[in-house]
Amino acid sequence: MKAFPLEDIEKAHPEELRRVQLQRLKWSLKHAYDNVAHYRRKFDAAGVKPEDCRSAADLARFPLTAKADLRETYPFGMFAVPMDRIVRLHASSGTTGKPTVVGYTAKDIDTWTHVMARSIRAAGARPGDKVHVAYGYGLFTGGLGAHYGAERLGLAVIPLGGGMTERQVQLIVDFKPEIIMVTPSYMLAIADEMERQGVDPKKTSLRVGIFGAEPWTNQMRVSIEKRLSLDAIDLYGLSEVIGPGVAQECIETKDGLTVWEDHFYPEVVDPASGAPLPDGEKGELVITSLTKEALPVIRYRTRDLTRLLPGTARTMRRMEKITGRSDDMLIIRGVNVFPSQIEELILKQPGLSPHYLLELSKDGPLDHLTVLVEGRGGEALRHAIKSYVGISVDVKEVPLSSIERSIGKAKRVVDKRPK
Ligand code: DLL
Repeated sequence: MKAFPLEDIEKAHPEELRRVQLQRLKWSLKHAYDNVAHYRRKFDAAGVKPEDCRSAADLARFPLTAKADLRETYPFGMFAVPMDRIVRLHASSGTTGKPTVVGYTAKDIDTWTHVMARSIRAAGARPGDKVHVAYGYGLFTGGLGAHYGAERLGLAVIPLGGGMTERQVQLIVDFKPEIIMVTPSYMLAIADEMERQGVDPKKTSLRVGIFGAEPWTNQMRVSIEKRLSLDAIDLYGLSEVIGPGVAQECIETKDGLTVWEDHFYPEVVDPASGAPLPDGEKGELVITSLTKEALPVIRYRTRDLTRLLPGTARTMRRMEKITGRSDDMLIIRGVNVFPSQIEELILKQPGLSPHYLLELSKDGPLDHLTVLVEGRGGEALRHAIKSYVGISVDVKEVPLSSIERSIGKAKRVVDKRPK
């Protein structure tokens, strides 16, 4: 079967890419400074002007931007164009306080569509494929981002959105999509439903799953690939930067996500000090948009933990699969723990289902962790957590299907500590 051709920039010599990036970076800094009062104030306070950026390394002199900056200017204060040029708004549900609102010009929608088409192609889409979209539509960027990208490639989009799980299975069986785009946790719930309906998850038409919007481990990849007999490929993005399509894993290497560096300039910084770290070192991902009009983001702190690696399938750099967010870190008796570490160990226990929940409570002055799992193997899991993570936890085996299934982003941690 004929494959889609790559764009020239995906094969460009790194020097050519650096040249394009620097030119766009200068534009983006000036665009933000000239049109957003909040950026102008912050740049002035830091004593930097857009002209001070003569090489990509100079970017480190500019102030970091955080979610708090968007909150302070809620809802539209960071927009760099007047409302008559905005054609779309999205928002991310704030768990605390106000949501974060993002806007797009017609050109931004085109850019987003373009990077999503590129992502879907990198994940292994072929002409003639049908794409089942089970990311939520609406203010969340997942559904519409996937939808526009697949359509741009000329693929047949099946726009289900999240929920109605029985129906998802019926349409996978009847329409025979080759590609599914969904959160990995909802994929698991759909697989459970297939089994309930007597459909063998290994025997569907699905060839590729494009999974993202939440952290998922390589162990989870192995488990999903085996169970559904498809290639599970990672897709990353965040509303503040554009939505999905900031970085995408390539099917030929499955070795982390290629950052679409011609549109998004990545850095990794020390999460505590904000100091830039060299490529290869692990820290917090920071992104600067290079082409966005409505909402330019300059050195935006994603809170996501990863490291930058050299390109393989493409010349652009890769980011390692995200292991967690700095705000998801639990501290159990002085030990830093990420939910992903527990997930890896659960998936290694053959008797346990891949669904789990972490309950945080108080044991005197200390935080205590209870791991809820379905199936058998709790004692072995408790042991594995003690030896590999170094913490004592309670493991509670609960009946199959009793842990709430997500239809979008899974909630992995419940905080039961008294306020
Ligand atoms: O989740 C955009 C998206 C939709 C990405 C569909 C991929 C697929 P937000 O709702 O703004 O946007 O949430 C962004 O989700 O900062 C990460 O913490 C997390 N996240 C997104 N993709 C991944 C991934 C969308 N592949 C936040 N691996 C980000 C791990 C991810 N975490």
